[in-house]
Amino acid sequence: MSVVVREVSDPDDPAIAGFGVMQNAAYFAPETLIPAQYIPRLLAGETGPRRNFLVVAELEGRVVGGALFHWLADAGSGFSSFLGVDRALRQQGVARRLHEQRFRILDRAAGGRVPGVFIDVVNPARLSKQDLERERRAGSDPWDRRRAFERLGFKQVDIRYEQPVGGPGGGPVTILDLLYCPHEPASTVATRLVVATMRAYWSPWLGQSAERHARELESRAHGATRLALISPLPPAIDPPY
Ligand SMILES: CC(C)(COP(=O)(O)OP(=O)(O)OC[C@H]1O[C@@H](n2cnc3c(N)ncnc32)[C@H](O)[C@@H]1OP(=O)(O)O)[C@@H](O)C(=O)NCCC(=O)NCCS
Repeated sequence: MSVVVREVSDPDDPAIAGFGVMQNAAYFAPETLIPAQYIPRLLAGETGPRRNFLVVAELEGRVVGGALFHWLADAGSGFSSFLGVDRALRQQGVARRLHEQRFRILDRAAGGRVPGVFIDVVNPARLSKQDLERERRAGSDPWDRRRAFERLGFKQVDIRYEQPVGGPGGGPVTILDLLYCPHEPASTVATRLVVATMRAYWSPWLGQSAERHARELESRAHGATRLALISPLPPAIDPPY
């Protein structure tokens, strides 16, 4: 039995429903993810300069992992909405294979070499007790998640990050940090790339207010043209913990 990683580009591919089942089981807060029923529309390319991609990992035809991600032409970068692997198949290199395939596809979309891919990830220190309990029930651990992303090459962008909507009372989500995996090792990222990425990611979703939120994010760089890429592990869990 071997896990097969493949790109899904047909909006009628049954693997899309399988990806939905996998992500709902793998993630502690599935209501925060893009529902699988939207994916056919995303793959059909109805989102302007944003191009959407789905990669799945299958074991005997069953989806056991996957990644939904985007090439943001206006920014010239990638953003990944979700990467997940079935609980029973973790720590066997499936996410790494999905991550590598994601870079290959983003390079293709970029027509060369994409500078890197962004994700947003919960910060364990800002999770509520209820969320930590949900993590436990889902068989995941927010510290381990960040350890895994660090191993894959992600670093935290040193800026206060908020997802503009979807938080308590419809306000911002403040439990996330922005992470970046540069294609080539780097210790900083251009503020302009970060801001352009979020503007492009938020635009199809938030319309004109995306510009305001992008400017707010930019203001938190306090004029710095480059932002440090720091360890994604909060200090309390740095080795030897
Ligand atoms: C995060 C996740 C995708 C990793 O998937 P995976 O298939 O287990 O990861 P891999 O086996 O490919 O491992 C990738 C790297 O992370 C490391 N890693 C994986 N799990 C780890 C853990 N629990 N603790 C420390 N390191 C870990 C691996 O050792 C590997 O590094 P290496 O190749 O240098 O040894 C998986 O745990 C998951 O699906 N979690 C729930 C869903 C989720 O939270 N997704 C992210 C949403 S933002």
